[in-house]
Amino acid sequence: MEKNFIIDTILNPAVFEINRLENTATKNVLKKSLSGEWQFAYFNSPLDLEFPINFDKKIKVPASIQMQGFDLPHYTNQIYPWEGRETVTAPDSPIKINPLACYNRKFDSDLSETIIHFEGVESAFFLYINGKFVGYSEDTFTPSEFDISSFLVNGENEITVLVSKWCSGSWLEDQDFWRMSGIFRDVYLRKPTNIQDVYIRADMHGNLEVKVMSNDPKAPGLMSLYDGEELIYEGGLKTKIVNPKLWSAEIPNLYRLVVGEFSFQVGFRSVYIEDSILKINGKRMVFHGVNRHEFVCDNARAVTRDNMIKDIELMKQNNINAVRTSHYPNNPIWYDLCDKYGLYVIDECNLETHGTWKYGQKDEDESIPGSNPVWTGAVVDRANSLVQRDKNHPSIVLWSLGNESFCGENFRSMRKAILSVDDTRPIHYEGACHCRSFDDVSDVESQMYTSPKTIEENITRYKKPFILCEFSHAMGNSLGNFQEYIDLEEKYENYQGGFIWDWIDQAILKDGKLCYGGDFGDYPNDGIFCGNGLIFANQTPSPKLYEVKKCYQYVAFSLLNNKIVLKNKYLFDDLSDCNLIWTITKEGEIYSSGEGDEFVMPDGDGEFILTASLYRKDLEIAYEQFELSEYVVCEPDKAGELEIIDGLENLGVAGNDFSVMFSKRGVKAAVGGMLISYKKQGIEYLKTGTKLNFWRAETDNDHGNKQSKRCMVWKSAGEYSEIIRFDAKKKENFVQITAEISLFTEPVSTVKLIYTVYPGGEIKVKYLFSPNKQLPEIPAIGITFILQNEFDKMSWYGKGPFENYIDRNLAAKAGIYETKVSENLTPYLNPQESGNYTDVRYAVFSDGTGSITFEGKKFEISALKWTAAELENATHMEELPDKCKTVVCVNYRQMGVGGDDSWGAKTHDEFMNFADREYEFEFMIRVK
Ligand code: GAL
Ligand code: MG
Repeated sequence: MEKNFIIDTILNPAVFEINRLENTATKNVLKKSLSGEWQFAYFNSPLDLEFPINFDKKIKVPASIQMQGFDLPHYTNQIYPWEGRETVTAPDSPIKINPLACYNRKFDSDLSETIIHFEGVESAFFLYINGKFVGYSEDTFTPSEFDISSFLVNGENEITVLVSKWCSGSWLEDQDFWRMSGIFRDVYLRKPTNIQDVYIRADMHGNLEVKVMSNDPKAPGLMSLYDGEELIYEGGLKTKIVNPKLWSAEIPNLYRLVVGEFSFQVGFRSVYIEDSILKINGKRMVFHGVNRHEFVCDNARAVTRDNMIKDIELMKQNNINAVRTSHYPNNPIWYDLCDKYGLYVIDECNLETHGTWKYGQKDEDESIPGSNPVWTGAVVDRANSLVQRDKNHPSIVLWSLGNESFCGENFRSMRKAILSVDDTRPIHYEGACHCRSFDDVSDVESQMYTSPKTIEENITRYKKPFILCEFSHAMGNSLGNFQEYIDLEEKYENYQGGFIWDWIDQAILKDGKLCYGGDFGDYPNDGIFCGNGLIFANQTPSPKLYEVKKCYQYVAFSLLNNKIVLKNKYLFDDLSDCNLIWTITKEGEIYSSGEGDEFVMPDGDGEFILTASLYRKDLEIAYEQFELSEYVVCEPDKAGELEIIDGLENLGVAGNDFSVMFSKRGVKAAVGGMLISYKKQGIEYLKTGTKLNFWRAETDNDHGNKQSKRCMVWKSAGEYSEIIRFDAKKKENFVQITAEISLFTEPVSTVKLIYTVYPGGEIKVKYLFSPNKQLPEIPAIGITFILQNEFDKMSWYGKGPFENYIDRNLAAKAGIYETKVSENLTPYLNPQESGNYTDVRYAVFSDGTGSITFEGKKFEISALKWTAAELENATHMEELPDKCKTVVCVNYRQMGVGGDDSWGAKTHDEFMNFADREYEFEFMIRVK
């Protein structure tokens, strides 16, 4: 072991492997695992390395060392993590601050397993057996194999692996993720095999051709193919199977192929582009995809097989049919699962150099790899390793040259390298759209975050299949207007879907807390930008996932009189094993139900809603609701007497067992014109007076598009207001109070509230809002009620059971639901607006004895234990103050959450509350 050699090798971009064996397809070899506990030593830099290395610590393999207490997890997006710490000029890598992880263990050998296999080591490593140097390898995400036969002794052997966090190749690994290091995938020993590699081609016509690579002239020239247990072919390496059962994500038929000592899953299928359309088995495919980083909060990158199964099952249950392995080759198990469960895969090369170029630049400039020959060897090697390892998986439908790495001649070389191994799949590279002179490197027009409108403006110009390799940025409370992308599928043949950014929040669990960029003292960092998942970091679904499931569903429903008509959008699945179930509810309660497509139209009063659901076994794969009639608000109880108690500051109305009070002028915390007390049978329901509400806690998307800055005027508009008219009139059996309030917006806006108080204690609130037309959009329009803390039990008739917003409420079904306000906050990494419900007919808050109800035609309710300001102040869930109240926002409506991206895209116009119009709504309040 020599220090200078180690340093020189790390720094040399031309050396990305030494003695590594040719990369070959994943094979089912017998493995003698070396995973488990290893001896360990840690140095901050290779410069500190001292021999002999004292391995006095222990570490787990596979795992990133940063998850084991060495070095720190570090999150950055495009900024290279060494920026501001060590001056590094490409192609050099940091050397002073470059954690070196030294692994060591003993193992027994009988000299039969002479090949060692590393599935993934981040980012470069030196291998020694019995103190002698064996080889070196870079590229974190593809395997490295070495022949160690000449280093082994019979009996006990010692293996040492020195893993450098950074190397020259780190310039090529600037993905938006946690920067880690170590042996994070399996390591094993295996026997040499007679056959080195197998390449299988199986197409939709039944052609099956297998190439066997072997140094042995006697290597098998025969193969056998099994359908389940049944042998259906035995013979030479080329044949044609008659009428094979085809593979697709919908119906992932697999056969088993045996060649020599190996067996492979084989899927007959063809992927190709015809007339600018990407096709699978002759049909136009549409990606209902997600981008997936390999991640889980407690293992980070070292995901287990169980983690993977959980991910894929969740994907399949939620109508996701495709995954892009953003932005690197995944654990080999993942592809077996994709073959088996049925997911189309864009398999991406481990290449991203985002920090070396900028969006909008025209020329290559300093971008890496560009056309610079310094990088050619390394990037071509990465492309080759990708295609060699994964070439036999039917699930892979496109090879991707990498992510956000601009363009240049090196991409042509990568493309050529891939096609020379496998020409059965088209090539994907989004970067081609940034420099049209390299359009030829990608067979598809791939873009990211293009808005539905911009897509429509341009799509007919593209003579290639159009794919959004990233769209609908699911950061925090997001995924608004998702359906608008889906609608394009029907409009444009070459619009072929996309991949949501992204699958899972990349947050690390530490001491019970979910951490994001900066939480480990990791600078520079990109903070919360690692939290864009449809599922939370512990692999549980967020409400966003339900909307995805609904919009991605493959069956459309419509009604024709009393018949439910289905439109099947699957390509191969004929739904013959599905059941159609319908239910009709009256005011949320089940009224009738049945199976099949015919239902009996209900008659009589009340709101009837038909829900049609298509089930496959126990899984609801598609559904739709139809409102058959309208909700009618309950009439108030008009019997009894009322008394007005008119004071200087306040006006009271008292009736049978109840009293209410309104502030006339607004003193202290009370706001003039607002309800400040609501008592029945001695119980006070309000903790503090009500306030007009025009705000919501800033979401990550609001932050990204600077909504708070733009709309700041609305933040406290409800608190700083002036009463301009207040009068109360006693009518026959009600009291009517009119309050006109002027908001200190600049210029002023007005709200007129008309309260009608009935003898039974019910209050009807009519809310008329005239924002000044010059003002910016209004995040929310309503009234905030701060109830006593004990009113924690919430039930409602409206959309649910999960939170929903006007631009993300297609999945939520109208029904009667129950929750606890204290559990209603969705645990987005950064506390923000959440817990909202749309199309609410009524909502009841109760403390177990008394209850307060809000009822209206269709309005919105959000209920949490915190005010918007408290949510905004907290950057993690743990920072929220103790629960001491129930904050209920009764809103006409809150703006949609948006989500085309999180760095500028606003809520779409149809889901905005613009100030150029008047708003009016009405609701009842009653207590019991
Ligand atoms: C994209 C990039 C992703 C991720 C995303 C923002 O531009 O490809 O890796 O950084 O933006 O979350
Ligand atoms: Mg990036």
